[in-house]
Formats: sequence, C-alpha cells, structure tokens
Amino acid sequence: MIHTYFDLSQDEVLVQGRKISEWAVAGKGGTPFYLYHSAVIEKKIQELRKSLPKEIQIHYAVKANPMPELVSFMAGRVNGFDVASTRELQLVLRSGMPAKEISFAGPGKTDDELTLAISEQVLIYAESIHEIRRIAGLSKKLNTPARLGLRINPQFDMKSSGLRMGGGSKAFGIDSEQIPEVCVEVATLGLEIEGIHIFAGSQNLDAQTICQTIRLSFAMVKSMSSLFLNSLRVFNFGGGLGIPYFENDKAVDVVAIGETLFQEVPDFLKVYPRAVPVIELGRFLVGECGLFVSRIVDIKISRGQKFLVLDGGMNCHLAATGNLGQVIKRNFPLCVGNRLQSSVREVVNVVGPLCTPLDTFATQVELTLSEVGDLVVIFQSGAYGLTASPSQFLSQRVAREIFI
Ligand SMILES: Cc1ncc(COP(=O)(O)O)c(C=O)c1O
Repeated sequence: MIHTYFDLSQDEVLVQGRKISEWAVAGKGGTPFYLYHSAVIEKKIQELRKSLPKEIQIHYAVKANPMPELVSFMAGRVNGFDVASTRELQLVLRSGMPAKEISFAGPGKTDDELTLAISEQVLIYAESIHEIRRIAGLSKKLNTPARLGLRINPQFDMKSSGLRMGGGSKAFGIDSEQIPEVCVEVATLGLEIEGIHIFAGSQNLDAQTICQTIRLSFAMVKSMSSLFLNSLRVFNFGGGLGIPYFENDKAVDVVAIGETLFQEVPDFLKVYPRAVPVIELGRFLVGECGLFVSRIVDIKISRGQKFLVLDGGMNCHLAATGNLGQVIKRNFPLCVGNRLQSSVREVVNVVGPLCTPLDTFATQVELTLSEVGDLVVIFQSGAYGLTASPSQFLSQRVAREIFI
C-alpha cells in the first residue's frame, strides 16, 4: 500500500483516535460517507511552505473539493482561492477570504458569472479575446472597473501529467503567440492586465518535469515584460503537483520544486517588482486528507470469483472506479477498514451498487477476509470525489461528508 497519513496500526483505521466503525455510526446517515481530516491538510501546507520561497503565495483550487467547511478551513491557511463557477465564487466569498485574493478562471464564463466577478472585484482570468470584449462591455455597463488577467496557453505542455492543459490547440487560455495583439486590444478597451495565469497540467509526480514547466513559464512571462510591466501584480504559474495513488507511485519531490523556485523568483521580481508569484494547487493540498467509506451489503461468488458489493459506488466516487480520466484502470488504495490485522486474506472484486460494469472499484485485489456489514475504506479520496461524481445516476443515496 502507498503511504497514508491515517493510523493503520490497530485492527481498524483510526481517525483522530476513533475507529472507522464509530465514525460510520456517528451522527445521522451512516454509510456511504467521506471523512476529511484537516490535520492532513495542515501537514501538506506546512510541508509546502517549508520548501518554497517566502514570496510565493499558495492558492487553493476550489474545484478539487468545495465542501463548505473544508473551504472555510482553507481560507485561514492559504493566500487565495481560484474558482471556476458562480457557486464556487459565492462559496468562497462567504468563507472569509478577501475578494482581492480570489481569481476566476475557466472557459465558458457566462455574462451572469462575469457580472458577479466584476461586481465583487475578483481577478478574472480571460480565456479568449471574445471573453475580454465581453468583460469590457459588462464593466462599462456596470460602471465598475474589471480586474483582468490573461490565461495563457503556452507552446509547451507538461509531460507525463494525468491531465494536460497547455500546449497545442486547447480550450484553455489564449495562445501565447496571440498575446501581443491581445494586449493592444486590451489597451484600446481601456483595461489593464493585472494577472497572468498558466496552467499546463495536473496530477504530475515527476518533479523534474514540473521544474522544467516552471522554468519555461517564468521565462515566458519575463520575455513578455514590455507588454504588462507596469500593470502586472499576480503571476499564477499553476502547479500540477499530484499525489500517489497506485503501487510504485512516489510522492512528488517538493524540495526540488522549491529549489527551482528559489532560482526563478529573484529574477522574476527584478523584472516585476510589484508582482507576486502564485502556485495554484488542488489535489496536492486535499487529496490525501479524505477517506471514502462504504459498507458491504452483499458478498457473492460468480463463476469462481468473489464480489464484495458496497452501498456506495461510482455515483459517490467516480474517480476511484477509474472513470475520471484514467487511461489504464488501476485500483485506488483500499482495505477492509475494520479488519486490518486479520491474517486470512482473499482475492476479491469490489463493486458498487449500480447496474453497470463501470461501477467497479477493484478487480482481483487481495484484502483481509470480510463479512457483510464490514466497511471498505478507499484512501486518497479528498480531491475530485463527491462533486466529480454522477450523484444523480440511478437515483442512489448521496454520500454524506464529514470534516474534522
Ligand atoms: C485552472 C486550473 N487550476 C487548478 C486546477 C487544479 O489542479 P490540481 O487539483 O491537479 O492541483 C485545475 C485542474 O484541472 C485547473 O484547470
């Protein structure tokens, strides 16, 4: 099993000293549920801060986990939030994070979304020239200046990322070679460029690749200094740091990333003394804080293979069934959470309650011997869990969420 921040030394997974079976009955609702432990997030933030130059600000990408209590907890611990929709924006505005530390990125922002963002004075990262024109028009109509940033689609991508979001033809950002003419139009529209955002990839564990992307990103923004030297206040260079999910995955080397930033940041600040560099992270900060817990409701044998059937499936945790962008299906780390120490083990398939073969968490995995009523715990479930799942599918029960 990969490293986990949870205590597996007893017969049950312990969270804050309490057995997982106690969490399963605590409060209303029973299983299935997500349990997010703030102490893990705290550790991740500390680990990161320790390795990065002090000038770097950490932003949390709310899409990774928008649970309100978790977001409020983050508000006191990171420097800013990045949102991608009206509901995320409303949520973070209620969290206590000052509006000036919030940015809004994502293709396809509607007029209503842009109107709210302009009125609340959050930084809007435009993804196209058409969006810039709409921002200018709405700003005039509202008689309120818009805080404009540009998301740039660079010429490079981030190799070996789970998701690649830069380089080539992309729906995200404005192609870097178009930026000079876009800047001319921005000026004629009476706007200024306050921020630059690059987000080249996600779920990357290779520090060398991430460092190379960071170097290229800083070089690009420095090469464009004549375009927004006086107005630039924020350079959000993305992140993409992943977490280990599978056998042989190694935690990303944050110290190596910090070393690259110690080299890049001083030069950047010489060129842009009034700008702050921002690293924007979702999964790295919250992915390891979460457990997904569901109960075995049936155990059956089909032609020699044993199936554990759970009360929560892909409707609760799509990513763990491999249906959220995994190219080759591999099992998330999981265990029978109330029978860790048993010496009797068996090979099983672990499936959810939906009538589709897609609803499979693990095939031919070795677990401790279990019974109906036992709890299956899936680790690394703090990011892209419930809100990245088709909760309405088959009108099944919706998992509850607990934040401690
Ligand atoms: C613009 C932007 N920011 C941040 C993220 C968060 O990525 P991660 O959770 O991998 O850190 C994404 C992911 O798709 C993104 O598109």
